[in-house]
Amino acid sequence: MRTIPHSRPSLGAEERKKVVATLRSGQIAQGRIVERTEKAFADFVGVKGAVLFNSGTAACHLALLALGIKKKDEVILPSYTCSALLNAIYYTGAKPILCDVHRSNFNLDPAEARKRIGKKTSAIIIPYIFGAPANLKELIEFKVPIVEDISHNIGADYQGRRIGSFGKISICSFYATKMVTSGEGGIALSNDEILLKRMRDLRDYDEKENYLLRYNYKLTDIQASILLVQLKKLPLFIARRKNLASEYNEAFSRYNIKLPSGKEHVFYRYVVQIPKNRDLERIILLFQRKGIICRRPVYKPLHRYLHQEGFPVTEAIWHSALSLPLYPSLTKEELRKVVSVGQSIFPQLTRSVTLSAKRRVSYYR
Ligand SMILES: Cc1ncc(COP(=O)(O)O)c(C=O)c1O
Repeated sequence: MRTIPHSRPSLGAEERKKVVATLRSGQIAQGRIVERTEKAFADFVGVKGAVLFNSGTAACHLALLALGIKKKDEVILPSYTCSALLNAIYYTGAKPILCDVHRSNFNLDPAEARKRIGKKTSAIIIPYIFGAPANLKELIEFKVPIVEDISHNIGADYQGRRIGSFGKISICSFYATKMVTSGEGGIALSNDEILLKRMRDLRDYDEKENYLLRYNYKLTDIQASILLVQLKKLPLFIARRKNLASEYNEAFSRYNIKLPSGKEHVFYRYVVQIPKNRDLERIILLFQRKGIICRRPVYKPLHRYLHQEGFPVTEAIWHSALSLPLYPSLTKEELRKVVSVGQSIFPQLTRSVTLSAKRRVSYYR
């Protein structure tokens, strides 16, 4: 039985060809292809410029430094997100202020964020979790510098404008299973030339007149050549993701689960919510026994890592969110299999399922 992974990069012959050409050129470190790729991403998102990095974490770290964030500053972020953002805040010495999320889109809840804004608040990081937009309009009104994290929805539109063009800076991860990938990688985008210059300076340490603590966070031309091809494919990837999501939604509409939806959702993840008090690990195990890897889409909310309490919506989502395989390279046959296995498991959710899982397989996150 061939296992259907939870996630898988969508790469093809064109990426291979470009990598070989770059290798043959002899220019493999950061060079002209990185520059070209930065321009292509900036044009695509609709901002003045971009800086490529070797990870999304590095992009976030230098975005915060470029904004002047340092010790004693506070940075607001949702608890229901990836721990990489927490790391980036701690690298600067600032204090992360965790916030609960909104039930409707799992993103930062503006009402909760408002309660946490104080004199020391220096930035708000807004990741658009699983590909759904946040209540951005309300968050922008706070007049606190915003760092958009578009790792899950690069290429999406929000109220007629490209996501990633609203904040002071936006960042994106190009990890293997993201919307577009270079294996590892990241980018920061901005309309502010000064911020772009600062980030570039902090990323490139060599041959400088002054000494400053700088970071070798460079991406290689090999990776950038993959990204250029991936960016060209992104609109098609998004169309495919939306198609797959509507096929799943149609197939699973009659069961006791909450399905994802939304015009501006690009379905980086297809996340359903199972009813309260059902054993999520057990459901994951049932799928796994049939050769399908489903996952909790956020491994652990940040407030749990930091031993904080009072995040009821995040807790409820964490206990109920089940992510099914969805990516552009998912074949028709694989889709059919996930549908048929789902249709055999989901009817059980009308009953209480209490057995606990013994085994978990970990593929890509
Ligand atoms: C929303 C989000 N932001 C940032 C990151 C961190 O990116 P990276 O793994 O490239 O450092 C991730 C993790 O993959 C993520 O999901």
